[in-house]
Amino acid sequence: MNLEAVWHDLECGGYVEDLALWRELAADAGGPVLDVGAGTGRVTLELAARGVDVVALDVDERLLAALAARADGLPVETVVADARQFSLDGRRFSLIIVPMQTLQLFGGRPGRAAFLRCALDHLEPGGVLAAALADAMDCFDDEHDIPPPPETREILGVRYASQLLTVVDDDGRAALHRRRTIAGAEAEDVIIHLDRVSADEIATEAGALGFATEPHLHIPQTEEYLGSTVVVLRAPAGNGGHLRLGSVASGAFRGTGRTCESRQSESFGRTVP
Ligand SMILES: C[S@@+](CC[C@H](N)C(=O)[O-])C[C@H]1O[C@@H](n2cnc3c(N)ncnc32)[C@H](O)[C@@H]1O
Repeated sequence: MNLEAVWHDLECGGYVEDLALWRELAADAGGPVLDVGAGTGRVTLELAARGVDVVALDVDERLLAALAARADGLPVETVVADARQFSLDGRRFSLIIVPMQTLQLFGGRPGRAAFLRCALDHLEPGGVLAAALADAMDCFDDEHDIPPPPETREILGVRYASQLLTVVDDDGRAALHRRRTIAGAEAEDVIIHLDRVSADEIATEAGALGFATEPHLHIPQTEEYLGSTVVVLRAPAGNGGHLRLGSVASGAFRGTGRTCESRQSESFGRTVP
């Protein structure tokens, strides 16, 4: 039993609101896609099923093992690597995607900068990097004072449940407290930390490395899930990799992404890391 994959599927697998956006970006890009933080393949498999060549990168080999098993016959490769430090033998992609809040898992600004540099080194000239950021991460308010119901699944007669308990501030980051329960066993509490950063801040950080910023895109919130802002960054037409120290930022800055903070008091929604 690949328990990590079970929890990942429970906590991320049901999210479909963003899939149309990734499909559209992949169709526009018309080339190979790198899915960063691919997990068990929610987005990778959706694109590959439409004939897109996808490289699925994740730091967790157990999740990629589940993805690979599901990708039978599809144009998918898996790479176990840290997104902040990867090198794929000179390969270049027309599109790099970072779905859900994965970019908020990279350990703040230094981690994001390391990832952005790696991404630039793997983009074709004019290629696009698109990353989704949670619009809000404070989920209890007057209207929604209880968490959403747990995600549950029965596998071989055993019930698995994952319940978001609360989201609190932890030294400037959002700390998501979850309780994972396997029927008949002791519950396990896990905490996932997400950096609070806006799409505009990402655009500024990326501009300093040589990316240009396209208008942000939006994934609407639903009753169950928070909305996201997708920051869209374009590599220079003559992309030879990231600018070295001392380079002048050349990124044009546009767009009006909403920050997490600007929607703090809005409705309860699930975040899905
Ligand atoms: C919120 S999940 C998203 C999974 C998948 N992209 C989806 O949309 O369903 C975040 C994923 O990022 C991966 N991840 C977290 N930190 C990472 C890192 N530094 N490098 C590569 N992958 C990372 C996790 O293992 C996890 O699979």
